[in-house]
Amino acid sequence: MGNALIVGNWKMNGLSAALGEIAAMAAARDDLWVAPPFTLIASAVTTAQSRLRIGGQDCHAKLSGAHTGCVSATMLVDAGAGFVIVGHSERRSDNGESDADVRAKAMVARAAGLDVIVCVGETEAQRDAGNVEAVVGKQLAGSLPDAVDGLVVAYEPVWAIGTGRTPTPDDVAAVHGFIRAQLVTRFGAAGQGVRILYGGSVKPENAALLLGQPNVGGALVGGASLTAASLLAIAAAAS
Ligand code: 13P
Repeated sequence: MGNALIVGNWKMNGLSAALGEIAAMAAARDDLWVAPPFTLIASAVTTAQSRLRIGGQDCHAKLSGAHTGCVSATMLVDAGAGFVIVGHSERRSDNGESDADVRAKAMVARAAGLDVIVCVGETEAQRDAGNVEAVVGKQLAGSLPDAVDGLVVAYEPVWAIGTGRTPTPDDVAAVHGFIRAQLVTRFGAAGQGVRILYGGSVKPENAALLLGQPNVGGALVGGASLTAASLLAIAAAAS
């Protein structure tokens, strides 16, 4: 599926000094997407000089209103963001976000003009119980927006996030194949064109193997996206 898309998710990391990493990424490549914390989005957009796509890690399901501490999709657009991640497992668990919440966020983000990365993935207990397809299938059914335009799906097994553990390449291929089949069932031929990212302990050392599997269109990278050196090494390994 063409060139791999490498997306960095900085999570709750990054002070203004980290803009140097954004500058170094932008100097080296023009095809990376990075989601810094909200506080750095506008300055990252300026620093990246259109060489990186900068995005948010979440948005509210409404466009404005009395929601103290929240950020809307239009605010992200206004700050220069081009995409938003919704339904990350840390949002689902830390903030109790349901599939319906995630879908509402995805719909509002698309309406605001942002590309949207919808995250799904099973816990270790769910995998051990043999429920990967049931869990991921339910998340897809409930979380995806109504159309594929601007949609990216990320498969992030919860037990692989920040642990250094990854599924086997065969397991990655199996789940990505399942996600592809679900997309085609739901969206018809257009489901073939939706990019599906793998996320969870992607490093320079394992990127080529994981991204070489069928239906893996790129990576959503957490810890290894915090420095230009490691994110660029992942991007180099993937291409
Ligand atoms: P790590 O790459 O740190 O495992 O995080 C993955 C992730 O959650 C990206 O969204």
